[in-house]
Amino acid sequence: MKLVGISGSLRKESYNTKLLKTIGERYAESFDLEILSIRELPFYDQDEEADPPDAVKTFKEKVKKADGVIIATPEYNWSIPGALKNALDWLSRGDKEMKDKPVMVVGASTGILGTVRAQIDQRKILGSSGLSARVLPPSTNEFLVTNAHEKFDESGRLTDEATLQFLDAVVNRFVEFVKKP
Ligand SMILES: Cc1cc2nc3c(=O)[nH]c(=O)nc-3n(C[C@H](O)[C@H](O)[C@H](O)COP(=O)(O)O)c2cc1C
Repeated sequence: MKLVGISGSLRKESYNTKLLKTIGERYAESFDLEILSIRELPFYDQDEEADPPDAVKTFKEKVKKADGVIIATPEYNWSIPGALKNALDWLSRGDKEMKDKPVMVVGASTGILGTVRAQIDQRKILGSSGLSARVLPPSTNEFLVTNAHEKFDESGRLTDEATLQFLDAVVNRFVEFVKKP
């Protein structure tokens, strides 16, 4: 199974990117996770959507080929970061690569609510007609890392045992969800 990961944070020491790296390593036997960069994507411009810049074409192609997507969103001012929304806006147009694509939403924040507000917005956006993604239902799968600065080790891996146990359960459900027709 081939998945792609999108981190909503551009910073080098991002906990969200570290979370994706942890997921890629920990479940390497279940799937291959390629973390895509959104740094090179220009601002979405409707004048360019029919023939977008190369960075956008490459990004969209990788999402199209993936069996599923894991989005790790930080919370910026109670919502998802602009850079992540921009990436999703590109995906929502043209070939609409996210249509029916299985998606798992996760997030890490240094706050005590751990991206809960950002994830609500993220799920709303993924349900828009342009994206129409098949999102793993939040009911038992709302995976978030609170107080992220306390839960990763120096090598950048998530080490909090209780959080990892819950992650195992959610990722297992996502793998089954991706396999479903
Ligand atoms: C512009 C900005 C706005 C933020 N707003 C929130 C917020 O609304 N809620 C929250 O829990 N944390 C907020 N934070 C703190 C982030 O959770 C924290 O910086 C986190 O580490 C960002 O994710 P990253 O490590 O992947 O870059 C904000 C940080 C920045 C830079």
